Amino acid sequence: MKSLVVYSSQSGNTRKLAEAVYQSLPPGASLSSVDEAPDPGDYDFVALGFWLQAGQPDPKSQAYLKKLNGHARVFLFATHGANPDSEHARSAMTAAQAMADGATFAGSFDCYGEVNPKVLEKVRARPDAPAWIADADKAVGHPDSADIEHLKAALGQLLA
Ligand SMILES: Cc1cc2nc3c(=O)[nH]c(=O)nc-3n(C[C@H](O)[C@H](O)[C@H](O)COP(=O)(O)O)c2cc1C
Repeated sequence: MKSLVVYSSQSGNTRKLAEAVYQSLPPGASLSSVDEAPDPGDYDFVALGFWLQAGQPDPKSQAYLKKLNGHARVFLFATHGANPDSEHARSAMTAAQAMADGATFAGSFDCYGEVNPKVLEKVRARPDAPAWIADADKAVGHPDSADIEHLKAALGQLLA
């Protein structure tokens, strides 16, 4: 199985998950930032990691998700400031799957990712502050070692 891990990460949270995914895959897999990612058409299994921006996968990931259409088995993973058990987080993952429509969806994982404090301060000051910031304080310190273990367990089941 030829495997590729692609990630988009502005402040490093999603990259941490990407490295854990990469370490969980059989030897020979490739790891790449979305900026340098190869064509997914050459791979049997592609794991793509994104972060949430305005309730959606970040724009670079959206562009790559569209390239996955019709290719490979795809595993999606994400970090966000929203509570993982929120409609906000769930609908973003559903939207990501829809963008890769035609790929075989193998599974997903998402968790809190600490929000840049300056960004959080600015968003909180907006009169139309989005609902997801209510739980963003709980994202501090994430992804943590427990998140990484949960991710590895999810992948382990998938790859067994
Ligand atoms: C400009 C900006 C917009 C964001 N918008 C959202 C959002 O709509 N929903 C959310 O849950 N988190 C949002 N976040 C929080 C990030 O998704 C979260 O901190 C993520 O872990 C960042 O990942 P990274 O470190 O890999 O860049 C936003 C962060 C930034 C900087």
